[in-house]
Amino acid sequence: METKYYKLNPKALDHHILDEAVKCLKKGELVAFPTETVYGLGADGLNGKACEKIFQTKGRPSDNPLILHIFEKNQLEDLVLDLPQDINKIIENFWPGPLTIILKRKGIIPDIVTAGGDTVGIRYPKSPIAQGLLAKLGHPIAAPSANLSGKPSPTTGEDCLEDLEGKIPMILDGGPTSIGIESTVLDLTVSPYRILRPGFYTKEDFSALGIETVYDKSIIKDGHIPKSPGQKYKHYAPKAQVTVFVGDETKRLQGMQDEIHLRKNQKIGLLLFEEHLHQFQGLKRSLGRQNHLEEMAQLLFFRLREMDRLGVDEILIEGINQPGLGISIMNRLKKSAGGRMKVYEEERDGKCNSF
Ligand code: TXA
Ligand code: MG
Repeated sequence: METKYYKLNPKALDHHILDEAVKCLKKGELVAFPTETVYGLGADGLNGKACEKIFQTKGRPSDNPLILHIFEKNQLEDLVLDLPQDINKIIENFWPGPLTIILKRKGIIPDIVTAGGDTVGIRYPKSPIAQGLLAKLGHPIAAPSANLSGKPSPTTGEDCLEDLEGKIPMILDGGPTSIGIESTVLDLTVSPYRILRPGFYTKEDFSALGIETVYDKSIIKDGHIPKSPGQKYKHYAPKAQVTVFVGDETKRLQGMQDEIHLRKNQKIGLLLFEEHLHQFQGLKRSLGRQNHLEEMAQLLFFRLREMDRLGVDEILIEGINQPGLGISIMNRLKKSAGGRMKVYEEERDGKCNSF
């Protein structure tokens, strides 16, 4: 299949291109498109056959439900039941944006979207391209991240091309995504509400508004089965083996130097905070500034894919030990490393140990 690749300016949308993309979606075909978090692989969310193609194309396990994207708050009532008391507060503060909420589904949603379950994930993205597509289609768009299953989520149009060229008819390239990690998944069917996947919005963001949430146990402790099916699979993994170094700064940097020395004959790629780049020789890239975690979130998946393109055997990554967005970033890093972590005891007090 030929894959058409269009560059779109999110600030001046080319409606001819959006119309062509919507034509594909209406025919039951798939389109990759940018959101503010990561790129999505979209299908008409009310067309079960089209949604089935998402699973085939990504190689996605059939028990992993899709989320539906909407573009108006009032679409919610067509899709879900039992809205909780806090729904307006949540929507007003976090939508459009990187928050997916889990609610009881209505029968209009195809079974394949929810993997046969009685709940569904709904998100109202902020990206103008995503909103443009949704407004023109008039239906919700089912869209997981546009990577092949197991690989890091795509944050550029080129990433989508790498995974999906020849497999789908169209990719819309709207430039690098601004957030870089996927939405926070918040289950509103339980009390207290439960964060099933940590993302850009954190427990602290919810609690600042008086909304009590808890992390799913699997996020903060090993050995628990996650309630979000997608969280249990191998994920975010580049081809190269990843090791994450975390904890006391002096010790973790020394640990990385020692590891490089041990692996002299291998091609090693280093992902480091901006401030530490100068301390290392060899193939190295920045993860942004140490105390600006939103920069690390934005760059992380891009850097993992870049390291694969550079053909390294091993990637050594500097991790972080911080609450909030730190927990979301470490959740991704830990999975990309398949649990290969070197943890160094902090010399100083006052930091959490929650990854
Ligand atoms: O930022 C994002 O959320 C991106 C963009 C494209 O919107 N989408 C995304 O979708 O990351 P996906 O499918 O890669 O991840 C959705 C996560 C999966 O872990 C899935 O298991 C979980 O949400 N999920 C979906 N429906 C659910 C449900 N009904 N109950 C529990 N977890 C659910
Ligand atoms: Mg995904």
